[in-house]
Amino acid sequence: MILKLESFSKNFFIHHIGRDVPAFGGINATLEAGKLMLVAGANGVGKSTLLRCIHRSYLPSAGSAWFESTQGLIDLARASDEDIAWLRRREIGYVAQFLRPRPRVSALELVAEPLFHLGMSRPRSLERAEEMLDTFGLKPELWQAYPSTFSGGEQQKVNLARALIRPRRLLLLDEPTASLDTQARAALKTRLEHLKADGVAMIGVFHHPEDMEGLIDATLEIRGTELLDPILEELEYVAY
Ligand SMILES: Nc1ncnc2c1ncn2[C@@H]1O[C@H](COP(=O)(O)OP(=O)(O)OP(=O)(O)O)[C@@H](O)[C@H]1O
Ligand SMILES: [Mg+2]
Repeated sequence: MILKLESFSKNFFIHHIGRDVPAFGGINATLEAGKLMLVAGANGVGKSTLLRCIHRSYLPSAGSAWFESTQGLIDLARASDEDIAWLRRREIGYVAQFLRPRPRVSALELVAEPLFHLGMSRPRSLERAEEMLDTFGLKPELWQAYPSTFSGGEQQKVNLARALIRPRRLLLLDEPTASLDTQARAALKTRLEHLKADGVAMIGVFHHPEDMEGLIDATLEIRGTELLDPILEELEYVAY
């Protein structure tokens, strides 16, 4: 087991109406190493919020997210900010839909950075970063440029190259294919296939799950919280 969600829930307090509004509630799910779980559901049902709560950019409202770290079992819902920061550097990766470019940092530097942080030498890190950008099909003439002026798809290639340059225990992917061309989609699929074979556990939101055909092991369907009947799928989780 890499991740186990127990009664995992999130409400947002909306100030101007003065009350809590549920994003999702009572999610139970288990994810094993080397498996990809698809999070499905209509717009606004809480898919991105679920990934953010696991990544702890949002604080969940109730329940637990047990993560089997190399350092032992930890509840991401209650872990200290220091522990979360450590886990994000080492074990938990998150691919947002959009890159957040930093001023005057080149595409190559952005992609190589996670490897510098692991202590890899600069020349070796940059070489690996070039391989990753090449894999996703970013034009070599852009490698030294600043991504703030790149197109949406080019930015996403940098984002993915950076997020996937080294294996993690757990990867959270929020619509990573949305702005990618066919070649980059295929490259992403191949990369995810390799990461799965290396034992990386993944949770992904894909608008077109057929892009990831053959890689999805389980589906967590999030329904509106007004639907309280549990839906039992053939897999090892229950969602409300
Ligand atoms: N920071 C926030 N404050 C208040 N409400 C929020 C916040 N973030 C998200 N929400 C609300 O939570 C609900 C779920 O949003 P979320 O982005 O998780 O949906 P989603 O399932 O990812 O949708 P989509 O398919 O459109 O990406 C929405 O109704 C949204 O308005
Ligand atoms: Mg979303």
